[in-house]
Amino acid sequence: MKIYLVGYMGSGKTTIGRPLAKQLEVEFVDMDHYISDKYNKSIAEIFTEVGEDNFRKIERESLHELSEKENVVISVGGGTPCFFDNMQFMCQTGLTIYLNVSSEGLASRLVHGMEKRPLLANKTPEQLLTFIKESLAKREQFYNKASVNVLCDGYSDVSIREKIVTVLSNLKRI
Ligand code: S3P
Repeated sequence: MKIYLVGYMGSGKTTIGRPLAKQLEVEFVDMDHYISDKYNKSIAEIFTEVGEDNFRKIERESLHELSEKENVVISVGGGTPCFFDNMQFMCQTGLTIYLNVSSEGLASRLVHGMEKRPLLANKTPEQLLTFIKESLAKREQFYNKASVNVLCDGYSDVSIREKIVTVLSNLKRI
């Protein structure tokens, strides 16, 4: 089994993915951490040094490397599903799960820690919400291709994890 958690920055891919993997007794990989370790640099440094286009190539290459793993929950970067054929590739090689959070929900989670995310750096809270609304509108078409769409607004991290585990156990029964 291989699960890809997809969703916008701040949707909880890592926060939910790590305990989910623990509960399922499988490995957890955060793709941003994987890339940072591989290049020994933060994502922000990689963006600055090679630019976004090259970062997207690195991301695609890393996705293909990680897809070789079995029994794993992989949380991919917020932009990963929206470039190349990455979303199709993930749907073909594993179970894709979209953590679906509204723009307002994302903005309130992302207001802290924006400096770690190059696409959000130096934005005011108002600019942040506008940016999220605009980019989410473009990205949703990719996220919505996921096999499972988990509505997260109003649910605690634990209940979101429980929803996913229920879906997984129902899938096993088919
Ligand atoms: C990005 C999301 C980030 C990281 C990079 C670009 C994006 O990952 O890959 O800053 O384009 O949405 P997280 O979703 O884990 O923050």
